[in-house]
Amino acid sequence: MTDSIRRVKQVIAPQTVIEGADVLLRRSFGPQRSNLFDPFLLFDHFAFNDPLEGPIQGFPTHPHRGIETVTYMLRGSVRHRDSLGNMGIIGPGDVQWMTSGRGIMHEELPHRDPEGIIQGFQLWVNLPAAQKMSQPRYQEVSAATIPCVETPESLVRVVAGEYGGVKGPVTDIAAQPIYMDVTLQPGAEFSLPTRTQDFAIAYVFEGEGVFGGGESEPGEFITAVKMLVFDEGDEIRVQSGPASSVRFMLMVGEPFKEPIYPYGPFVMNTQAEIQQALSDLRSGTFVQ
Ligand code: CO
Repeated sequence: MTDSIRRVKQVIAPQTVIEGADVLLRRSFGPQRSNLFDPFLLFDHFAFNDPLEGPIQGFPTHPHRGIETVTYMLRGSVRHRDSLGNMGIIGPGDVQWMTSGRGIMHEELPHRDPEGIIQGFQLWVNLPAAQKMSQPRYQEVSAATIPCVETPESLVRVVAGEYGGVKGPVTDIAAQPIYMDVTLQPGAEFSLPTRTQDFAIAYVFEGEGVFGGGESEPGEFITAVKMLVFDEGDEIRVQSGPASSVRFMLMVGEPFKEPIYPYGPFVMNTQAEIQQALSDLRSGTFVQ
């Protein structure tokens, strides 16, 4: 059997949406019963350069159940506080990986950097049915403790998964995810082996490059900003353009192949479980 390089199956242009307290976001996909991005549920890019589009209040206190929310900051910061008693500020390069399990309440308040810019990503990862009501858990990883694999042509920050013999600090996640921030200088190539049937996406947010393809088949030339969905295969391959760099977030995970029932900040498997979440909120037993 020969190794197969993953092809680009779908290219998504992010849509502008409003969430929280009038926060403008670029959303590539959100939770849907069709579950086409299994095990991923949502990918939002918050990029505010103009005070008129920025968050004043951010995301006031809200619940989550049945999912993991992952915040990755590029510029600016997010002040957060939650029902587990955690509070703090996530700054550039920091990651917060929150496993809501049965229930968490939190608030997220973005702040601009001195140049007035906020930029970062929020990814939602599903939990399998057996872990949706698990204890909430929280992994905060500071920029300094995220390992980088660096060559003159490339920089790969490994949040979860493994690249070049380096393992990311976020571990014990049900979907066994890969989550990396990859920068390639002009003319560089990136390659990563993957389990054949894992689901893989890339969010291209700077520059341009060729994604997928191999010796017998050209890849697809992609210019930022786009979300790419890869077909199944053994390897992800990316080349930057001859005269331009490219930067993307790479996400790979094992699909759960379970029905999902999303409702706002909850993603459960059945409508009855959503009704239970709402009833727990009303009766004050949501967070224990
Ligand atoms: Co939240």
